[in-house]
Amino acid sequence: MTAWAQTGLSQESNFTQEDGHGQLSLQSLFFFFLLNLNGFFLFIFFIRTQKLIAECELTSPEVVCLDLCCGEGSTAIYIAERYGGRVTGIDIVSGAIKTANEFAKQRGIDNKVTFVEGNIFKLPFADASFDVVYGQDPDGLSHPERVHAMREVYRVLKPGGLFSFHHHWIGGFGFSEAESNRLGEAADRLNADFYVSDVQDAGFRIKVAAPIYELADSHIIKNYQLKKEKGKDIDSWLQARVDSIGAGHKYGVQITAVKPLHGQESSSRNTLLAFVAGGVLGAILVSTLFSKN
Ligand SMILES: C[S@@+](CC[C@H](N)C(=O)[O-])C[C@H]1O[C@@H](n2cnc3c(N)ncnc32)[C@H](O)[C@@H]1O
Repeated sequence: MTAWAQTGLSQESNFTQEDGHGQLSLQSLFFFFLLNLNGFFLFIFFIRTQKLIAECELTSPEVVCLDLCCGEGSTAIYIAERYGGRVTGIDIVSGAIKTANEFAKQRGIDNKVTFVEGNIFKLPFADASFDVVYGQDPDGLSHPERVHAMREVYRVLKPGGLFSFHHHWIGGFGFSEAESNRLGEAADRLNADFYVSDVQDAGFRIKVAAPIYELADSHIIKNYQLKKEKGKDIDSWLQARVDSIGAGHKYGVQITAVKPLHGQESSSRNTLLAFVAGGVLGAILVSTLFSKN
């Protein structure tokens, strides 16, 4: 577990230092700004993307990964272009996929990155196809039955592969049940504890389960302020979250989990058992032969 993941809050603001894999350099910052199509909260996006890259070692050109709920694909394009990995993005909105594919083509990176329209509850990929499956605010997982999508992720990951995501707007650890009820979200189990137990139920071993409260707060509040500045309507969902943060409730989680090496572990265990059994049988045979002589 990395230092920032253990301490969450205090380390978030320290992420401007080299972390071994995802370095914050002016060059990569510029590169990322260039890629981001939305134009909002760029720095927050950049910080969380660098965390993800570090956590999953996406700096390797050998890595084959899937971006869950990829939106318009800026993160996938950034990873493929900057580090050389192969990335597939999936999103349920066809317009987002169209834009993402056009953008990849424009940047001449469409041999490394592909975007596919689809639902994360039925991933159109073969078993064990990816080294890493990641998601940045993968809204498909906000469904109360998210464990089924997580099982799909488990299926398409190679043994030992990583599943990593962060979600800014779900309740933090130990989120108050009364507050969930007040927000009308109790039935959707939208908090960090439920997400962790669903990841485990899908078969993963948790590597990191950390709060991202500061990042989540600034993300939600900035979103609210920008909408206000632009004179846009504030929907009740956003207003309720801003009020909730104001009342001291915490949001956001980052989870990284491993698909265990079950197959390999059991096959090596079987080999060992066969070896031991063979040895025991051999010893019995030899001792029987000697006792007859
Ligand atoms: C908050 S956006 C995040 C986009 C992108 N990951 C980013 O960081 O900019 C959430 C995305 O989830 C997608 N989404 C929601 N439900 C989905 C599902 N069941 N399957 C695939 N994509 C889904 C939406 O279309 C949207 O693009």
